[in-house]
Amino acid sequence: MRMVDIIHAKRSGSELTDDQLQFFVDGVVSGEIPDYQTSALLMAIYFQGMTDREQSTLTMKMMESGDHLDLSAIPGVKVDKHSTGGVGDKVSIPLAAVVASLGIPVPMISGRGLGHTGGTLDKLEAIPGYQVEISEQEFIDQVTKDKCAIIGATGNIAPADKKIYALRDVTDTVDSIPLIAGSIMSKKIASGTDALIIDVKTGSGAFMKTLDDSRNLAKALVGIGKGVGMQCMAMITDMNQPLGNAIGNALEIKESIELLKNNGPHDLVELTTTIGGYMAVMGKVASTPEDGKQMCQEVIENGQALASFKKMIADQHGNETVVDDPDKVLPQAKYQIELPAKVTGVVSKIVADEVGIASMLLGGGRQKADDKLDYSVGIYLHHKIGDAIQSGESLLTIYSNRENVDDIKQLLYDNIEISDSASAPTLIYETIE
Ligand code: URA
Repeated sequence: MRMVDIIHAKRSGSELTDDQLQFFVDGVVSGEIPDYQTSALLMAIYFQGMTDREQSTLTMKMMESGDHLDLSAIPGVKVDKHSTGGVGDKVSIPLAAVVASLGIPVPMISGRGLGHTGGTLDKLEAIPGYQVEISEQEFIDQVTKDKCAIIGATGNIAPADKKIYALRDVTDTVDSIPLIAGSIMSKKIASGTDALIIDVKTGSGAFMKTLDDSRNLAKALVGIGKGVGMQCMAMITDMNQPLGNAIGNALEIKESIELLKNNGPHDLVELTTTIGGYMAVMGKVASTPEDGKQMCQEVIENGQALASFKKMIADQHGNETVVDDPDKVLPQAKYQIELPAKVTGVVSKIVADEVGIASMLLGGGRQKADDKLDYSVGIYLHHKIGDAIQSGESLLTIYSNRENVDDIKQLLYDNIEISDSASAPTLIYETIE
């Protein structure tokens, strides 16, 4: 079999056979298929799509490309959550601690930033010492003892995804339903979780820009999960503006801690506790999502979720005093530059992907696969869609390690609108079960 024939078949719109998909995944993992041929096939899949059969076969082959974690030693229903990726989407970080403090084991396997979106692992690595790569046994022990761990797809979990993910990030082939479905579900099936909730983002800052595409992705993800016997559901949520106020790795850790101190921004709290409510039902500690949401709110208010978060950071070798004094422990940018509103009115548009790109250009995200991140940089929005603002008042603060950020200011001015009136967008559109 030749890779060039597989590329040709997909480029021409043919359905790939199981053997062709196996050959591709094997070749990616062994390194026999060079990156340029993998990238060419990814681009062909991007344009031609995949049938349901190809999509689930690709997922299973990627999942089988590595180890399968056996979490059966951890008592209880193991519940994980994943997001398809957004800007300012730090939900997984406080959520793991919130749900763990309800007594539900949360073995969370997360990813890095992709395209203009941030990644949970990159954010956690802003905490000095935090290890996202721990051994399988340490992972199992930590989830058994403290109920949560957030790690990367370590060692040999879906190694095919690791390579494909990095190439998609730099070849603009991220926003493809079969590639996202294969990437997420191969890792989640291999990670051995019993139940999974997927936050499918929709809008300008999401990989799926329309509700229809997001619904199709949600159905593909849930279909694959249920097909292997996993308890699986998806929630389609808004990404037409960044989530919360902070964008950037260290800034997002600080905002996550604020949420756990019962002082988080409204949209972030609402989404975290709503998803947590569903996880509480999946984990069999609540009978309805509403009851579960209430329980989540309680562990935030009584400090139990914050204590769980501190414990998780310590377990994963991070400096847990970040919880007590985030500014002292997290890396700080040299410059804080305000962006004043040019007119008086109501914020009516914040193009989320461009705000993500602005943060990436400051050094908070990768432009090339091997770029080193600057954890301290980012953007803090003082106003969101629907908020009134006076001319001259600060719209946002740019955290930067370079003094001249004229390019970033222009990019942000071009992508934030102030009009006479606007209201906050819907946060949660629908659930797919
Ligand atoms: N998260 C993943 O793990 N993979 C994707 O492709 C998108 C989001």
